[in-house]
Amino acid sequence: MIKTKVKASRNYTVITGRRLIGRTGKLIEEIRPFAKKILIVSESRVAPLYLARVKASCMKAGFEVYAYVFEAGERSKNIDTIAGMWSAMAQEGFTRTDLIVALGGGVCGDMAGFAASTFLRGIDFIQIPTSLLAMVDASIGGKTGIDLPEGKNQVGAFWQPSLVIEDISCLDTLPDEVFIEGMAEVIKYAFIMDIPLYKLLRENSITALRSDPALLEKMVGMCVKDKAYVIQNDEHDNGLRQTLNYGHTVGHVIEKNSNFSLPHGVCVAKGMGIMINACEKNSTLSSEDAMNMKDLIRAYNLPVDDDITPEQAVAGAMNDKKKRGSILSVILVNKIGHSQIKKMTHKEYLEFLR
Ligand code: GLY
Repeated sequence: MIKTKVKASRNYTVITGRRLIGRTGKLIEEIRPFAKKILIVSESRVAPLYLARVKASCMKAGFEVYAYVFEAGERSKNIDTIAGMWSAMAQEGFTRTDLIVALGGGVCGDMAGFAASTFLRGIDFIQIPTSLLAMVDASIGGKTGIDLPEGKNQVGAFWQPSLVIEDISCLDTLPDEVFIEGMAEVIKYAFIMDIPLYKLLRENSITALRSDPALLEKMVGMCVKDKAYVIQNDEHDNGLRQTLNYGHTVGHVIEKNSNFSLPHGVCVAKGMGIMINACEKNSTLSSEDAMNMKDLIRAYNLPVDDDITPEQAVAGAMNDKKKRGSILSVILVNKIGHSQIKKMTHKEYLEFLR
C-alpha cells in the first residue's frame, strides 16, 4: 500500500493499494468521526460492481448511507444531475458534517465534488476512483464541475477531497479500452515530468502492467506522486498545473467535435501526437524524442494522429480555460521529461500547428 500526502488548501492522503473498497467505512471514520450521513454518488456502470460493498462497509462503520446513481457517461455531466444530488441530501437532512463519497470514474468524481462544494456552501467529499484515468489524475487536485453545451468543464470549483481511496483491484475488471484510455494520462506524466516513469513504461507493456499487481501499484503510485507535487505547487492552475494539460487543448476540441463519442484518453493521445509533430516541425523537439514519444503512445495501443485541421484546433481553443484574454498557454514538451508553458496569440498558435 502507498500513502501519498497532498498539501493544498485542504491536506489529505491518497491511499493506493489492493482490496481497499471493503475498508471504506473504517477509513472514513478515521478521518471524519463526527460525520453521520453519507451520500454515495455512483454511475450506472460502476454501481452494480461496487456500490453494495461500499455501502455495507460504511453501514458497518455506523454511518447512515444513501445512494445516488446517475446514467454513466459525459452526457450526464450537467446541472440536472447535480440538482438531483442536492435534493437527495436536502431531503435526507444532510448537515455540514455529513459527506459525499464519489464512487466511479472522472465524470462521477467531478460532479460529486461539485455537489459537495456547493451544498450548504461546502461539505466534505471522499474520492473512490474506479478507473485508471481517475486514479492517476481526475480524483486528485480538487477540480470539480460540469460541462456546458459550449464546452467541457466550463462551470465548477476547486474543492479538494478529504481522502482518496484508490483500490487498484478495481482495475482488474476494467475493459481493455478503458484501461488503455487511462494510459494516455500516465504517458502524459512521463512526457512532462517523469523520466523514471518513462523508462518503466518503455520497459513494460499493457500485458505486463495488467498481469502484475505490484508493477501496476508502482505505476499508479508514481503518477499520484507527480500529481501531488503539481497540486502542492500550483493548486489553482495558474502555472505548473497547466502542464497537466499537455495534449488536452487539442484533445478537448477533438473530443467535442466527435460529440463525445471518442473517449477522453484517446483524444488526449491524439492531442499529444499533434503537439509532438508541431514541436518537431518547429524544431523545438528533436526527431529522436519525437519518434520515441510517438512509439510509446502507439505501444500502449493509443493513436497519435487525427484529421482535425490547425484552423479547427485553434477555433476550438477559444473556450479553453487556460486562455487569459486573447493569450493561450500552450504546453510543449521540448525534451522527454520536461515541459514548458508558452504564451501564444491565436495567430502564433495557428502558425505553430500548421
Ligand atoms: N486534470 C488536470 C488537472 O487536474 O489539472
